[in-house]
Amino acid sequence: MLQRLDKTLDHHLAEAAARYGTPAYVYFTDEIASRLEALRTAFGRWFAISYAVKSNPSPALLDWMRDRLDYLDISSGGEFALSQQAGWNPELISFTGPAKREFELRPAIQAGLGELVLESLREARLADAIAGELGRVQPVLIRLAPDRVPKGFGDQMAGRPSAFGVDVEDAAEILPQIAALPNLRIIGLHIYSGTQSLKPDAICENWRIFMQVFTETCSALDLRPEKLIFGSGLGIPYHPGEQALDLSQIAATIGPELDDFRARFPSARLVLELGRHLVGPAGYFLTRVVSVKQSRGSRIAICDGGLNDNLAASGNFGMVLRRNYVMHRVGGDQDGALPVEKHDISGPLCTSIDKLGGAVELPRLDEGDLLAIHAAGAYGPTASPLYFISHPLPSEIMVTGGQMQDITRLGNG
Ligand SMILES: Cc1ncc(COP(=O)(O)O)c(C=O)c1O
Repeated sequence: MLQRLDKTLDHHLAEAAARYGTPAYVYFTDEIASRLEALRTAFGRWFAISYAVKSNPSPALLDWMRDRLDYLDISSGGEFALSQQAGWNPELISFTGPAKREFELRPAIQAGLGELVLESLREARLADAIAGELGRVQPVLIRLAPDRVPKGFGDQMAGRPSAFGVDVEDAAEILPQIAALPNLRIIGLHIYSGTQSLKPDAICENWRIFMQVFTETCSALDLRPEKLIFGSGLGIPYHPGEQALDLSQIAATIGPELDDFRARFPSARLVLELGRHLVGPAGYFLTRVVSVKQSRGSRIAICDGGLNDNLAASGNFGMVLRRNYVMHRVGGDQDGALPVEKHDISGPLCTSIDKLGGAVELPRLDEGDLLAIHAAGAYGPTASPLYFISHPLPSEIMVTGGQMQDITRLGNG
């Protein structure tokens, strides 16, 4: 699958640009399918898979996922609406987020949301009142924030002061109060404490911490869990030289401990929650070179897409030091006809932070050339300041088995 995609990739990218223009995001569902298969092969013995909608909320992708994935995790009323638009059964959806409000809780509870992932006592009381008014008993998971997260995660949501979930130190005080609320039923626990790790040992150690916290909390609450959600933390390579995770290595390392854990909680469905690992490498950001400037020894390719479309690739989405994303010139070096040169890549915005690459070695770029930035399937357009400087918004194209479809959601108003 991967090889076939590689061989035909530039053909599809060039065709997408010709048909729909640039800047554009192009998502390959065959690649998502093969990534899902790899996840199931490695972890399917223990885990069902839940897709975090925040990583790419395209309704067309959510629709494509409907018969292929087990669950969705949403983090807002807006994501709930998108999941419904894509035809997802509300019972298969969990709802996380640290600041849930009445206007988004009510429709989700009313529609029959699978699990509300409670992040605080405030939210529990609010949800209990809403469920009571609606005559429902809402199944809930409690999100716990462990007191430690191993080194090696790109972003960390626990192990220090954090807005997310109930700190394990406070669980003994807070959880019984939630358990006493009449219109909520605690059916399990949830932890998401770190994202974007490319270190198998850190991922295994984090899951070990989850298992310990789950075991202790279930025994303290006398809870027989029906569902336990593990925030995967599985990362993807973004930068040249980074290695993709070997999922089978992780499974081999942690497998015996997962077997023991599952035996301890035979009635619990274990779920792996993830976003970027599934969709990130299946997407490319396409931008066209508008102008080339030779400036004081640097060759600068100025493109029609920039940080307004792809904030992450510009290094301004939670990155301390800007590093180049993997990228290539669509069409390569034209069978050796183009020399490889260093380029700075900038976008259309009037700010020096609008930079998609520094000293990137690429076949010589000229006006009209197409550049593809990799790992763009997650945290793309919806994680970018699309309206900054009012350029046209990027289109979104989905390629399924060679068929191309315009799935652009955001209008150019
Ligand atoms: C609660 C929760 N679930 C899932 C995710 C998805 O993370 P990733 O896309 O790294 O898999 C995040 C990321 O921030 C999150 O906070």
